[in-house]
Amino acid sequence: MSKTKTICFTNNKGGSGKSTACANLAYELAQAGKKVLLIDGDMQLNLSLSFFDEEKVLDMAECEDNLYYAIRGKKDLKDYIVSTPYENLDLVPSSTLMSQIEYELFTMMQREYVLKKCLKGVYESEEYDYVLIDAPPTLGTWVINILCTADYVIVPVEASPWGLFGLANMFDFLTGMNEMTEAKIMGVLITKVDERKNYYKQTKEILGSYDNIHVFDSFIHVDSSIEWAQDASVPVAVYKKSTRSAKEFESLAKEVMEYGSR
Ligand SMILES: Nc1ncnc2c1ncn2[C@@H]1O[C@H](COP(=O)(O)OP(=O)(O)OP(=O)(O)O)[C@@H](O)[C@H]1O
Ligand SMILES: [Mg+2]
Repeated sequence: MSKTKTICFTNNKGGSGKSTACANLAYELAQAGKKVLLIDGDMQLNLSLSFFDEEKVLDMAECEDNLYYAIRGKKDLKDYIVSTPYENLDLVPSSTLMSQIEYELFTMMQREYVLKKCLKGVYESEEYDYVLIDAPPTLGTWVINILCTADYVIVPVEASPWGLFGLANMFDFLTGMNEMTEAKIMGVLITKVDERKNYYKQTKEILGSYDNIHVFDSFIHVDSSIEWAQDASVPVAVYKKSTRSAKEFESLAKEVMEYGSR
């Protein structure tokens, strides 16, 4: 078994903070000295845009050295890695063509395990401590591929009236995949917490009623610096080290690293 741990960010509810958490947790893990490979699994290219400007992201999306062509051609992802501007942090960029990936997978043998096979070289090299995968807000064959290669799932949930809507279905979906994957839910990350509203407490209480679902102690407040950072294509800690959410992602990284050593 490879020492590389794969964590994916999944929630079929859109806008729950998956890409934001994936990018900023990866940056903090890399800052802590862990070697991290990011995989941008979403045609929205948000993870790629977290580290590169729009022009560069579109260049990567339009050439053939991206995730779409790797999956379609069943190529090893180790040949599709680009370095980010940050030490210890690399990325496999996405493509808008990922919108067609369900059709591509449909005719493939063992179509749920294509991504896992494409990661063989990465796992065998044991070069990375973590592979972090940003999933789109769907639950189709592509997301099943992501779950089939993951060791752990982080589920970002927005602290809002509809944040938990559909979550039970997603937990059932993950449980139903038991025979296909050993992926465990590492934890639920509550995001976009606004102290002027009461939804954090309510969300935490409801999540506490689920059996065996861990909720991270760290949570992420609403912070406009996150949007400014995304506008500048940098992690929030690079945009403003002292901002509250940067510290919260640092604390999340500690929890994730401790989880790994339990
Ligand atoms: N803590 C936060 N404070 C302020 N804005 C945030 C915060 N977290 C995320 N956002 C904003 O909320 C929006 C959705 O976040 P994000 O893209 O990370 O969600 P997502 O789950 O990846 O969405 P999708 O399902 O579309 O992939 C983005 O515009 C992002 O800038
Ligand atoms: Mg996203």
